[in-house]
Amino acid sequence: MSARVQGALWSRDPQGWAEHAEGRIMPLYERVLERLHPLAGKRLLDGGCGSGLFAELAASRGADVTGLDAAPGLVEYARRRRTPARYTVGDLQRMPFADGAFDVVTAFNSVLYAADPVRALAEIARVTAPAGRAVVTVGAGPEQAESAALINPLAPRGEVPDHRMLDLADADAAQRALRAAGFATAETADIVFDVDFADLDDAIAAQLPAGPVAAAVRHSGRATVEAALRSFFAPRTRVDGTVRMGLVFRCHLAERAR
Ligand SMILES: C[S@@+](CC[C@H](N)C(=O)[O-])C[C@H]1O[C@@H](n2cnc3c(N)ncnc32)[C@H](O)[C@@H]1O
Repeated sequence: MSARVQGALWSRDPQGWAEHAEGRIMPLYERVLERLHPLAGKRLLDGGCGSGLFAELAASRGADVTGLDAAPGLVEYARRRRTPARYTVGDLQRMPFADGAFDVVTAFNSVLYAADPVRALAEIARVTAPAGRAVVTVGAGPEQAESAALINPLAPRGEVPDHRMLDLADADAAQRALRAAGFATAETADIVFDVDFADLDDAIAAQLPAGPVAAAVRHSGRATVEAALRSFFAPRTRVDGTVRMGLVFRCHLAERAR
């Protein structure tokens, strides 16, 4: 699961990701922004920045923002937002930044896609300044697990997250890994919310641009993947046609020593 392979998968539909998927996790961004307040004047790296929504939110709060992502298509989309931020196509496992370059590093649902997530955490620790903070999140709810269990087997094994080296949903293991990476403290909090889709098609449109789903479509065909997604969302469809999915994001918050 190299950064190049992930970058290609996540670049298949940047506009679809930005318009149908990214904004759905706004409650996660808002809660993390509350934890990180104040951001004015802070150097913030968003590692695995996707199409740049969180970078935009952080910049609007006065942070000096850098975004890094393996997907050239998403980085290009982020640049077109005209956020006052710098963007780099790159790999979380080998970041082109100096030691201690950032006061805050965020990585929303990206470290799990690194071939070596332990290495990615070590890089995040390396670029975090003394007394700086990092936030690493991962989807950890039963509904997210159920949908991954339907989609991942439809994709080649090497193109979907492999939790054998480190399961970031395991709070103890993640905190141990963050401390081993160089953080002085690490704690975990869950952020739980529902996402509502206008209808079944809207729910499916939000999934198709994601890397694992794109890998499944390429490997097993769109009809098979859409059928799997419909079977997942059908029981979550309400009488008015709207679809509701429950999300849990496990957020690991770590701090470097002063
Ligand atoms: C679930 S998306 C999250 C995107 C964004 N953080 C968000 O919250 O919408 C995962 C992101 O991780 C990126 N990614 C995967 N492997 C990566 C790696 N090794 N280095 C940098 N980015 C990577 C993907 O390109 C994708 O943008």
